[in-house]
Amino acid sequence: MSDTLMNDKPVNDKQAVAIHAANFVKNGMLVGLGTGSTANYFIQELARRQHKENLKVATIASSMVSMIKAQSLGLNVIALTQVAEIDLYVDGADEITLDLTLLKGRGYDLVLEKLLAKAAKQFLVVADSSKLVGRIGTNFTIPIEVMPMAWKAAKHSLEQAGGVGDLRQNVAKDGLCVSSNGNLVLDMTFDKALSEAQLNQLINNTPGVVEHGIFIGLTSATLIAHEGIVRENWA
Ligand code: A5P
Repeated sequence: MSDTLMNDKPVNDKQAVAIHAANFVKNGMLVGLGTGSTANYFIQELARRQHKENLKVATIASSMVSMIKAQSLGLNVIALTQVAEIDLYVDGADEITLDLTLLKGRGYDLVLEKLLAKAAKQFLVVADSSKLVGRIGTNFTIPIEVMPMAWKAAKHSLEQAGGVGDLRQNVAKDGLCVSSNGNLVLDMTFDKALSEAQLNQLINNTPGVVEHGIFIGLTSATLIAHEGIVRENWA
């Protein structure tokens, strides 16, 4: 068995909360896999439980990178096209408010992430306490996935509503960031006078927008780890 499947003492809060979340997984479940470092720990723990405890699950990944990781650890990954509903979805977030609103999509896989969050009977958000904020948009811009042909028109519409921002560049800053769906991503900030609900509605109503990173009313519970202690906050 490889080191990546071993369950020793958690190395950090992200791993601690991922292991906590994995205890919600039961035999026969169809489990949504998130994207990011916390979700990676969850995938590892699920694979460990499958190997050590003979846990039987099927999974659906929210991104190509998570699918590859899950498959490399021996998990059975099926396509979203095969199902309309999943039992449990576990994913990280970039920002989390007390009322369980989320900002997601730094990894620009927010379309699949929101689909899984909506399709899940239970959506658990796993994070360390650094993700807690008073309001969405505190530490990050709002990621907005747009159809490539519509990016300029969508950006203009959002600017007319007070948005400021631009297309996300790739890490090397020599090209544009392209989502798993072949779309572009606008990273934008908005006037703080707009509530998360108003922002959600504004962006949803902008033609050319495929999806955005504000998740309202989708979270079943947040599991937040701080110095090894995990606290659950249920909707
Ligand atoms: C991916 O698109 C995001 O929504 C992630 O859930 C987020 O970036 C969390 O990443 P970490 O777990 O690495 O902090």
